[in-house]
Amino acid sequence: MDDLERLAADVRSADAVVAFTGAGISAPSGVPTFRGDDGVWEQFDEGQFAYGRFQRDPEGFWEDRVELQRELFGGDYEPNAAHDALAEMGKDGDLEAILTQNTDGLHGDAAAAVDGSGGNSDPPILELHGNARRVRCTDCGKRRDGDPIFERAADGELPPTCDCGGVFKPDVVLFGEQLPGAVIQRARSFARESDVFLAIGSSLVVEPAASLPRLAASTGGTVGIVNLEPTPCDDIADVVYREDVTDALPRLRELTDE
Ligand code: APR
Repeated sequence: MDDLERLAADVRSADAVVAFTGAGISAPSGVPTFRGDDGVWEQFDEGQFAYGRFQRDPEGFWEDRVELQRELFGGDYEPNAAHDALAEMGKDGDLEAILTQNTDGLHGDAAAAVDGSGGNSDPPILELHGNARRVRCTDCGKRRDGDPIFERAADGELPPTCDCGGVFKPDVVLFGEQLPGAVIQRARSFARESDVFLAIGSSLVVEPAASLPRLAASTGGTVGIVNLEPTPCDDIADVVYREDVTDALPRLRELTDE
């Protein structure tokens, strides 16, 4: 029995399985990851996109953000076999929740393709860092589709503003910005109550998300990490599987679909 087969046995016997994902699950779809040799933060300075810069210099922030948005999401990215495997596990009732740090919306696309949900998928998909396909007005709070607003910014409207006069902000959690309390509390409760916590395609270095595997382990949950590189949580994981997500997740789904 190899490590993935052991993990599949735990998933099969579990009541509550939670999947937690990072940029590595979207890498095979062509979405750049953040760290590692060709990571986004090798190309851009994180500080350019920090919340403090948005507040201090919204014009300069938006000028740089247009370039980052093109780099991160300029392609017509599709969910890959790993997203689809999790969506199918979700549809079969094998997942309590999908918690993601990703802002690319690909889990929602995969869920909609599998169960035809209009994005209100069951199990819930918690986008801990928001969704880069949307923008939000910092005054009236209205959320809008991001594409036309990014186009207006690319055409020189810096910063783009809402009808109410407020400045739009990408609907993502910026460095230095607090995650919405309710979202992280809900994610922590899923982790605490999980029998199996799958950490997939994340370097597990960004808090508070990076503490979720430890939280799951602290309440007796089995932690399985699927990641090409070592993570700071490998020491508390029951299974560490160093394989590509597009091999590991479809196989895990197959092994748990028996
Ligand atoms: N299969 C398995 N693992 C992969 C694959 C793959 N095909 N491709 C990449 N990985 C792994 C990498 O080895 C890396 O450890 O995915 C991990 C991605 O790590 P990061 O780039 O740090 O992404 P993530 O953990 O999601 O970053 C967290 O940091 O910059 C912020 O807000 C941003 O949400 C992001 C957060």
